[in-house]
Amino acid sequence: MTPVQAAGRDLALASTQEGIFAFADRCTHAETRMSEGRLRACRIICPLHGASFDVRDGRVLGGPASRPLDTYPVRISGGYVEVLLPDPGATPAGGTVVR
Ligand code: FES
Repeated sequence: MTPVQAAGRDLALASTQEGIFAFADRCTHAETRMSEGRLRACRIICPLHGASFDVRDGRVLGGPASRPLDTYPVRISGGYVEVLLPDPGATPAGGTVVR
């Protein structure tokens, strides 16, 4: 996993056998950095209390967290990982692409 800052946000990138996924680098339970946790296939495990999430869609796989992680669309373009971040007030398809 790789922590990154983009457009004022803390993100994490996870490289898995299913591809690269981007998500908010904050556990929804108590704000710990998820990029310091462990990645097992597509399951990320929080380093503080052990909640787990699916990096593909952010859904909770195990408590104590109950809210999903925010996840963001990713594509590889010209050797860069591009992440589409939503702009406040943008249409569902709108947003900012960061590399
Ligand atoms: S801070 Fe992640 S499970 Fe508590």
